[in-house]
Amino acid sequence: MRVVEAFQESFGAEPQGVWHAPGRVNLIGEHTDYNDGFVLPFAVPWGVTAAVSSREDDLVRLRSLQAPGPAVTVEDPAQAEGWTRYVIGVLWALREAGHPVRGADIVIDGDVPRGAGLSSSAALEVAVGLALDELYGLGLSRMETALAAQRAENDFVGMPCGIMDQAASALGEEGKALFLDCRTLGTRTIPFDLAAHGLQLLIVNTGVHHELADGQYARRRRDCESAAARLGVDALRDVTDLAEALARLSGDERRRVQHVVTENHRVEAVVGLLRAGAVGEIGALLNASHLSLRDQFEVSCPELDVAVESAIRGGARGARMTGGGFGGSAIALVADDRVEAVRDAVLLAYAERGWVPPEVYPATPAAGARRLA
Ligand code: GLA
Repeated sequence: MRVVEAFQESFGAEPQGVWHAPGRVNLIGEHTDYNDGFVLPFAVPWGVTAAVSSREDDLVRLRSLQAPGPAVTVEDPAQAEGWTRYVIGVLWALREAGHPVRGADIVIDGDVPRGAGLSSSAALEVAVGLALDELYGLGLSRMETALAAQRAENDFVGMPCGIMDQAASALGEEGKALFLDCRTLGTRTIPFDLAAHGLQLLIVNTGVHHELADGQYARRRRDCESAAARLGVDALRDVTDLAEALARLSGDERRRVQHVVTENHRVEAVVGLLRAGAVGEIGALLNASHLSLRDQFEVSCPELDVAVESAIRGGARGARMTGGGFGGSAIALVADDRVEAVRDAVLLAYAERGWVPPEVYPATPAAGARRLA
């Protein structure tokens, strides 16, 4: 493994272990996690591999094979910059929670496609979290590791994300989607066998990341929280009578609530269809999710809309943006014999607009975080 060779080269010793954590695709349930709602992501075959040893002092020495240059030494967490914040943030979160975590030597290798919105940051956090859990004998559950990773991102990196990405990375299973109740943190794996149904789930990586995206995420979260407060509920998960709630709201809050409440219903409907073996029938729900994210939650962008519309025109059974929005990837559910037609339709639509062609490739549900060596 090249991450082991790089570790030996950087630190002159064998790593104590090697851990891997994947990125994720969200099948459905977007912007519901921080509303105590439901999500249905799965782990993808790409992720972050970390070769790690513990240390007897509090130093962290870090190197990434995706970043040029030798290992950097971080003595004070406040000095961490760029990608190293995700790693140092996990150490910080574990220490904040009272765990006896000291320093570490870490080399990272990642293959999550760039800019794809497939949660390379969650993969990095969870790989490091799992390594520290084992090396320092913390005895954390997978969900506790995911929560520490989320805490790192929320309170150290400063991105107010929900729990979905870290949970998918920590708890995903091969061939399964992960149903997660973001209030109780209860999970259930749902069989998602595309090949058995002659289907593929294509990722269309737009390659774009619109500026202001991070600020918009926080704004959507605030819209949801203020709407919940106005409705007198703890979270939008608790809205049971949508028509009555909408009658009491206006403007942005009204649209946000419309999306979150209907999206939770769509997740439950998709789970029902998958459990009934009707994988091919979920397409309409994917389409409805996209329209809701575009028109009610307002987190799509032209590149995502064109990817979704052209995929459907090319014969996809359904398509939607996946992840936080404003760029990243769309997904399309496509019968095996339509894959070429869908890819051609998407590439043509981009070419007609003079846009950089997106990457289009299939994703299958892969195993979640694990020790490799
Ligand atoms: C990002 C966040 C997740 C989730 C999605 C939207 O990926 O990290 O927690 O909120 O956006 O569903």
